[in-house]
Amino acid sequence: MKRKTKQPKLYDYLKLQPKGFVFPDSTTAQTKQEKTNLLGSLKKRFCKCDQCPLATQGRSQVVFGVGTPSATLMFIGEAPGKNEDEQGEPFVGRAGKLLTKIIEAMGLSRQEVYISNVVKCRPPNNRTPTTLERETCKNLILFNEIAIIKPKVICTLGSPSTKALLGDDIKISQIRGKFFEVNGVPVMPTFHPAYLLRNPAEKRTVWEDMKKIMIKIKELEG
Ligand code: URA
Repeated sequence: MKRKTKQPKLYDYLKLQPKGFVFPDSTTAQTKQEKTNLLGSLKKRFCKCDQCPLATQGRSQVVFGVGTPSATLMFIGEAPGKNEDEQGEPFVGRAGKLLTKIIEAMGLSRQEVYISNVVKCRPPNNRTPTTLERETCKNLILFNEIAIIKPKVICTLGSPSTKALLGDDIKISQIRGKFFEVNGVPVMPTFHPAYLLRNPAEKRTVWEDMKKIMIKIKELEG
C-alpha cells in the first residue's frame, strides 16, 4: 500500500527559514499600478490561508491592509477584532475610529496612508496572537506588503507589531517615541489606539510621536 506523506504546514517550515520570506516580484514593484497588481496577487494567494492555527479558530475572513499602495506612511496594528473580521477591513471599530482621528490630525486621510495588521485573522476572543501566529503571518503577508508598498516610514501600534519588527525583547513603554531602522526604513513604535481608549492621558504622548513622524516624512521627501 502506498503511504501518504503528510506535507508540513508552512509554519513548521518557516521555523527553519531565514526571516523575511518574500513573495515573487514583491520588491520589484515601482509604479502604483504594479503595486496594486502585486497586492492583488498577494491577496489571491492568501485569502484562504491555512498556514497557522487561526485559520480554524473562528475567523470569518482574512483581513488584508487598506489604503494607497503607494503610501509614504504605513501603520501596523495587532490583529483584526470583531468588527474588522465582519467587515473585512482593518481598524474599523472603536480603536479604528481613534486611529482615523489621529491620521486626520496629521493632515492625512485613511486613503493616503496604508493600514495593516501583523496578523490578518481574528484571534478568538481577541486574545494576543501567539509568537507562531505572528511570525507566520508576518513572513507570509506583512513582509510582502512592506516589500511591495515600500513606505518611507512605518508606525507600529502596540506591542505585537513592534515585536514583529524589532524583536521579542522590547517593552513598548520604554521604546516608543524613538525611530529604529529596519532594512533602511525608519520604524516608530507607539501605543496602540485600544490602549489609548483605556488610558486617554496617553493620547498626548502618541501625538508627540506622530509629530516626529511628520517631521521625518518632511525630511525624507526633501
Ligand atoms: N486592533 C488592531 O490591532 N487591528 C485592528 O484592525 C483593529 C483593532
